[in-house]
Amino acid sequence: MNNNRIASLVEKMTLHEKIAQLIQLATPFYKGATNGGQITGPMAELGVNDEDIVNSGSVLGASGAKEVKSIQEMHLKENRHGIPLLMMADIVHGYKTIFPVPLAIGCSWDLEAAEKSAEVAAREASVSGVHVTFAPMVDLVRDPRWGRVMESTGEDPYLNSEFARAFVRGFQGDNLTEDKDRVAACVKHFAAYGAAEAGRDYNTVDMSERQLRESYLPAYKAALDEGCEMVMTSFNSIEGIPATGNKWLMRDILREEMGFNGVLISDWGAVKEQIPHGVVRNEKEAAEKSIQAGVDIEMMTACYIKNLETLVKEGKVEEQIIDEGVYRILELKEKLGLFENPHRGADEEREKEVILSESHRKAAYDLAVKSTVLLKNEGALPLNNQKKIALIGPFAKSGDILGAWSWMGSHEEAVSLYEGMHKKVSAENLLTAKGCDIETGSEEMMNEAIAIGKEADIIVLAIGEESGMSGEARCRADIRLPEIQLELLSKMKQLGKQVVVVLFNGRPLDLTGMEGQADAILEAWFPGTEGGNALADLLFGDVNPSGKLSMSFPYTLGQVPIYYNNYNTGRPKNAAVDEYVSKYLDIPNEPLYPFGYGLSYTNYKYSDLSVSSSVMTLDQPLIVTVNVTNTGELAGDEVVQLYVRDMVGEVIRPLKELKAFEKVTLTPGETKTIEFTLSEEQLRYHHRDLSYTSDAGEFTIFVGPNSRDVSSATFELTK
Ligand code: BGC
Repeated sequence: MNNNRIASLVEKMTLHEKIAQLIQLATPFYKGATNGGQITGPMAELGVNDEDIVNSGSVLGASGAKEVKSIQEMHLKENRHGIPLLMMADIVHGYKTIFPVPLAIGCSWDLEAAEKSAEVAAREASVSGVHVTFAPMVDLVRDPRWGRVMESTGEDPYLNSEFARAFVRGFQGDNLTEDKDRVAACVKHFAAYGAAEAGRDYNTVDMSERQLRESYLPAYKAALDEGCEMVMTSFNSIEGIPATGNKWLMRDILREEMGFNGVLISDWGAVKEQIPHGVVRNEKEAAEKSIQAGVDIEMMTACYIKNLETLVKEGKVEEQIIDEGVYRILELKEKLGLFENPHRGADEEREKEVILSESHRKAAYDLAVKSTVLLKNEGALPLNNQKKIALIGPFAKSGDILGAWSWMGSHEEAVSLYEGMHKKVSAENLLTAKGCDIETGSEEMMNEAIAIGKEADIIVLAIGEESGMSGEARCRADIRLPEIQLELLSKMKQLGKQVVVVLFNGRPLDLTGMEGQADAILEAWFPGTEGGNALADLLFGDVNPSGKLSMSFPYTLGQVPIYYNNYNTGRPKNAAVDEYVSKYLDIPNEPLYPFGYGLSYTNYKYSDLSVSSSVMTLDQPLIVTVNVTNTGELAGDEVVQLYVRDMVGEVIRPLKELKAFEKVTLTPGETKTIEFTLSEEQLRYHHRDLSYTSDAGEFTIFVGPNSRDVSSATFELTK
């Protein structure tokens, strides 16, 4: 403890005061909050008292400058050391200006725009009194049944790591102490929460340590390397031990190996959930396990406050461990400047100026454009605004386009698809009907849609999952569109017109049966506040789609989990042999749309892939070059992707691994030479003994517009 001011403060605190710093409770527990400060009902059930709250360290979910200031002021009057509260909240993809959901942001492959989104979110949150955001969520995902895939940037460890860094930079800036428009970031959920078995939330995770290190840990590590201030534990167990009491994971890996010295918080209730997990008998044992594992803050349960004092007195927990946690928490408060200015950025006047400002909306628009993926286009797009268009579907006029983690966002502020399109098409040329609701409908609604569809030259069908169908505890075993919407699509198709589907959803869907009926599919995800404007510009070709999938779309649900960086197996499917190979009898092995895939209104030609040498040495990286030409008639942005395969590894290596990418703008007819540097360091992986090293021998390089359609070259690594 080399911060004297904090160390001497810790010394002055009683054991109870110190333990109270380790609890985090929601806003209603606090005096000064609207309807706050009454310890009744569920709060009383939690078993905390007034004194605990007066000494507590942080608040969950408080926001709004006025309320936050009032909570802080009341608190400082009562806390005898004058220790301010840390205000923490989930600002995941925007505060009030809502950006596309993180899975969509992943599809932008645009790190600058992602950083900007976090910067905007931080500014709005900070003027509203928030100090820490529970983001970025960087859990690697391979199973679209899991509702929380919408919170992740996707299935690739490298891409996720790059985004993790970008988000942390955007939230925290360069100087958290000075820059009051930034908030501290809390990377979550440590670790491997995204690997929940069968895509069911909170479910068991079990995998080899090698797989954990290779695929799941890199993105958390990247966030920490970028200076992320906090980490949140995950709900799941790993190798039979719940993460929130997992000493090996939290102390050996996170703290020792990754060098994390900041505040570690449990997820909501996860300390106590060790009881139903079946590894402790009661709250006291739960508290002991988590504190020993190094979990500093217990979120929303009271195992610590009720038991740590006794555990210290019984000699089961050293007071030193508690002191360390308190020290880390106080140090974060100091770093945020809260001892000098407990209100930090909270400012009612600036709230009016900053929130949903024009420049913030512009950033949200920009990312919505970049995140949208054109999955299919058989000549239906771009639309012609002189034609009669029927905009049909439950999302035609819906403001439910913000996604599940947008608790401060409002549907009224969101620009619907209709509003966006209406700016470009006269009212008489833009007909609209709902057709059906998300999961239900009526003959009348369907008939109205059919009548309108008949009148139009082309149909735009805005369909999908409502935001409540993805997110936490929102898993689906059937990831097709609801039956009624499929029926709506068929009815529209039967009218003999071109049908453009605009999909709103928080996960890759199983598009079986519907994909063939659409002449074009534009994957909008949940595009956020500016969604309608961005989608209209894309639909009419004012901007060219450039998004590329960061998570595979399965051919059907039966392929799940499906991801591009899989292994070859001993019996790979091939053209020559059809029996007893690794395949399905009824569907292809390949996904419907692979990782990295996305179309544009122009075409790109890849040519002249070349490698600077056929041999790479430890100190001589290779230069990989490829020419990319825009052969179409519109300017566009293309994401050029570089993958590698280690042909013979000490352990099996993936068929392809993304190692680099570059987003390039090309005008019609223009050719650019893209240059990548590939070094030995990028070829390292965890071997059988977990050493992180590379294999000498043959490698294949793949370059292309997605993980499937690639050209290749080879080289040898000599050591
Ligand atoms: C979620 C976290 C979130 C926390 C606080 C939990 O249920 O798993 O992602 O940060 O609640 O809202």
